[in-house]
Amino acid sequence: MRDIKKVAVIGGGTMGNGIVHVFAQNGFDVKLIETKQEFADRAINTIDKNLSRMVSKEKISESDKVATLERIQPLLSIPDGVKDADLILEAVPESYDLKKKIFEQVDANAPSHAILASNTSSISITKLAAVTKRPEKFIGMHFFNPVPVMKLVEVINGLETEQAVTDLIMDTSRKLGKVPVPANDFPGFVSNRVLMPMINEAIFCVHEGVAEPVHVDEVMKLGMAHPMGPLRLADFIGLDVCLDILHVLYDGFKDPKYRPCPLLVKMVDAGKLGDKTGEGFFKY
Ligand SMILES: NC(=O)c1ccc[n+]([C@@H]2O[C@H](COP(=O)([O-])OP(=O)(O)OC[C@H]3O[C@@H](n4cnc5c(N)ncnc54)[C@H](O)[C@@H]3O)[C@@H](O)[C@H]2O)c1
Repeated sequence: MRDIKKVAVIGGGTMGNGIVHVFAQNGFDVKLIETKQEFADRAINTIDKNLSRMVSKEKISESDKVATLERIQPLLSIPDGVKDADLILEAVPESYDLKKKIFEQVDANAPSHAILASNTSSISITKLAAVTKRPEKFIGMHFFNPVPVMKLVEVINGLETEQAVTDLIMDTSRKLGKVPVPANDFPGFVSNRVLMPMINEAIFCVHEGVAEPVHVDEVMKLGMAHPMGPLRLADFIGLDVCLDILHVLYDGFKDPKYRPCPLLVKMVDAGKLGDKTGEGFFKY
């Protein structure tokens, strides 16, 4: 396995700009691939702002910030962006059809040694790997929001991922200052398989009148030492995203224990999606 030096990140949204930030800050050359110049500019501005905050908190120096930004090259073309990359990481919206189209293009244009990775929260890594001619070099790198702050990278092995690829991605994640945790490809991996049923149960507590949202969250914060209650966290993640992931678990396991709470469905139907719409279980 070749060492990873050059990275291409496809998608510069919430997750993509954070992923670009941590790679560039840790000495990797990064190509940031977006669909429009304004989206690429927005990603670079966000990274610039987040680096400035780190400078003001004296976590990095002004020259670290300048060097980090110099290592990032924004681009609008997948073939140009991936042609000399050692690792290509995809962070576009959670749609199988979109990711399939992108990985077919990446596979056709990336060097044969390059590793392909997805930041998907819920789509099967094995199924995405199967659209490429290199499923043994395909892996999940599941970062957490906000990427520059959160330590975890869930490293997901598809059915055919080679051990040497997993080892290299674990090692590369450590170079980013992260803590990689390996898991195998099953619906929801570990993170969402444990988190989403807890959030769903918290919503059932509200639905059945067991307690008010604020009280459900207080119990989990004060009694279980959770830094954030499950309903506050659900609002932060987005109630539509929570519902989509519960559907993935329900469909993937065909087990009624993953049945989404009717109140969650109703809130999504009403457009109360959490922080991003100004209202979910709480008002913002
Ligand atoms: N938001 C989270 O908390 C979170 C956490 C972990 C994993 N994820 C996963 O990360 C992925 C990205 O999520 P996000 O929240 O960053 O989404 P987002 O909508 O914030 O960003 C997606 C970006 O991809 C860009 N894009 C779309 N099509 C593209 C294309 N063809 N080529 C290049 N760029 C393209 C969009 O312009 C946008 O900037 C999803 O698979 C999601 O499930 C999200």
